Amino acid sequence: MRRAYRDRAVYLGDPDFVPVPVALLTSRDYAAGQRASIRLDRAMPSDLLPGVDTPVMGTDTTHFSVLDAAGNRVAATISINLWMGSAFMAAHTGVLLNDTMDDFSIKAGTPNAFGLVGNDANAVAPGKRSLSSMTPTFVETPKGLMIVGSPGGSTIISMVILGTLDYLDGMSAAQIVADPRYHHQYLPDVVEYEKGALSDQESAALTAMGHALEEGRRRWGNMQVITWDYSTGKVEAASDPRGEGVGLVY
Ligand code: DON
Repeated sequence: MRRAYRDRAVYLGDPDFVPVPVALLTSRDYAAGQRASIRLDRAMPSDLLPGVDTPVMGTDTTHFSVLDAAGNRVAATISINLWMGSAFMAAHTGVLLNDTMDDFSIKAGTPNAFGLVGNDANAVAPGKRSLSSMTPTFVETPKGLMIVGSPGGSTIISMVILGTLDYLDGMSAAQIVADPRYHHQYLPDVVEYEKGALSDQESAALTAMGHALEEGRRRWGNMQVITWDYSTGKVEAASDPRGEGVGLVY
């Protein structure tokens, strides 16, 4: 039943609209394959069967990295700030308005939604732009180029500097987007880290130096990276395994 209902969830829909693989689902070989994964002494958790994809959908900020054959490049981070922005839509457009006023310091020392504090320099004033952590970036060296950026609120700046250091250390695009992350934003006075970012030894050494460590609970971005090696001409594109997106070279 578990396996048949998985097939229902994954494959079945109105055949006038979707191609239903009837020949596959009713073949003896397919049944034998299904049977082979059944253990008579143990239930198999449904999670272990390939299932209905539930991609993590962005609701606030996104980043594109683009490079064309002539070397033209784009790093674009685009945001409505928090979940569904201000929840207001410009009439008849489908365009959600942002709630980026929260990127101002509304009161000296009072943290915003990302825990960032500020003072008069970032106070609200007519015609003034708020600070932003968005960091669409080109890293250019004599050897090559990296295009990088990510959503992630206040952690964006840290993620982009970590990605930059990884690039300068020779990591590939795929390694850079997957590398575990950490972050310090002045206040709160803690090093937030992603599971796996710090070895036991590193954690102990940092704690001995007086750093407060805390495993971060927020999502660690959705970084999009392109690298271009000038000497080989090789271009790599990679999308963060933590989020939605795809890196394509064609
Ligand atoms: O500009 C900023 O710093 C914020 N509005 C960015 C918000 C953001 O990245 C939300 N994302 N995850």
